[in-house]
Amino acid sequence: MVTAQTPTNIAVIKYWGKRDETLILPVNDSISVTLDPAHLCTTTTVAVSPSFDQDRMWLNGKEISLSGGRYQNCLREIRARACDVQDEEKGIKIAKKDWEKLHVHVASYNNFPTAAGLASSAAGFACLVFALAKLMNAKEDNSELSAIARQGSGSACRSLFGGFVKWNMGKAEDGSDSLAVQLVDEKHWDELVIIIAVVSSRQKETSSTTGMRDSVETSLLLEHRAKEVVPKRTKQMEEAIKNRDFGSFAQLACADSNQFHAVCLDTCPPIFYMNDTSHRIISCVEKWNRSEETPQVAYTFDAGPNAVLIAHNRKAATQLLQKLLFCFPPNSDADLDSYVIGDKSILKDAG
Ligand code: ADP
Ligand code: DP6
Ligand code: CO
Repeated sequence: MVTAQTPTNIAVIKYWGKRDETLILPVNDSISVTLDPAHLCTTTTVAVSPSFDQDRMWLNGKEISLSGGRYQNCLREIRARACDVQDEEKGIKIAKKDWEKLHVHVASYNNFPTAAGLASSAAGFACLVFALAKLMNAKEDNSELSAIARQGSGSACRSLFGGFVKWNMGKAEDGSDSLAVQLVDEKHWDELVIIIAVVSSRQKETSSTTGMRDSVETSLLLEHRAKEVVPKRTKQMEEAIKNRDFGSFAQLACADSNQFHAVCLDTCPPIFYMNDTSHRIISCVEKWNRSEETPQVAYTFDAGPNAVLIAHNRKAATQLLQKLLFCFPPNSDADLDSYVIGDKSILKDAG
């Protein structure tokens, strides 16, 4: 039995659209920041026993079907790389060839809302692949594992690394070069503070998979975005991250989030992931950023209404919380479900 924990990641240059649905190959590169595992993460336990007669999985305590191609793809890819396992102390010996016949049971928990636009599929599939690889003694490095996690959920390939991570879309038809690379580690820009304003923890109506399929089929803006906008923006974002240039970082991240949601609106039928509260949060941050010499906070919204707010530093994070608490007073009609932040003392400083 092996237990692993994997953090979620939030894209600052979004992945939206596949060129290959089965292998999960994207139409553009994307860049994300991996969150602190202490706050938003998945914990997955995988177990093997000769008494298990089929592969089974429980998600947040409820059994789910593994018949979907994505789970089967991840299981198949790791099984194909399984090696001998020998633990004399525990009296365990599993030969490489035995893994084909043995079944696994998987129990996974997310400590944050599932399917609500906070990238549960990213943390979930990254954790599943990582835990299975450990259990089956697969020798692949994190980059090779990222290409397997990608076949569970595209965004999952970026959760195998900390810090800022890029998913190269790749060119190969078999997807062998479509994997994640770490741009910088978590220490490179450690003054950033990420605050997540949970607007709603309800499950979204349109899953990311369905939403992006509809966008690929119907949105002209998506084609323009993937071919003309993202290639340039990705380079600029890499520079901004390397130079810790917060002004450019915030401008690019906000613009990319807004264009992704514009693509959703340009989809037929249109997809509305953000709601009125999300829009009010954007206005609040925009107004504040414009009143300062340089932006203090970047916002980005995944496929859901919840805001991921990246503050330049601790002082900006404290001020941001004060503003949010003023605009969305707790226990009022306009309150938010909750905040998730890295450091409780910031909440205290913000009063
Ligand atoms: P999100 O915005 O949360 O990533 P998605 O629509 O992309 O939402 O994906 C949600 C789906 O991801 C769930 O319905 C489930 O199939 C899968 N998922 C979520 N958490 C896990 C997990 N811990 N382990 C395996 N699969 C998971
Ligand atoms: C808006 O990775 O959840 O979060 O590959 O179909 O599982 P599938 O989709 P998923 O899509 C993520 C979309 C996004 C942007 C991003 O994470 O880059
Ligand atoms: Co997802």
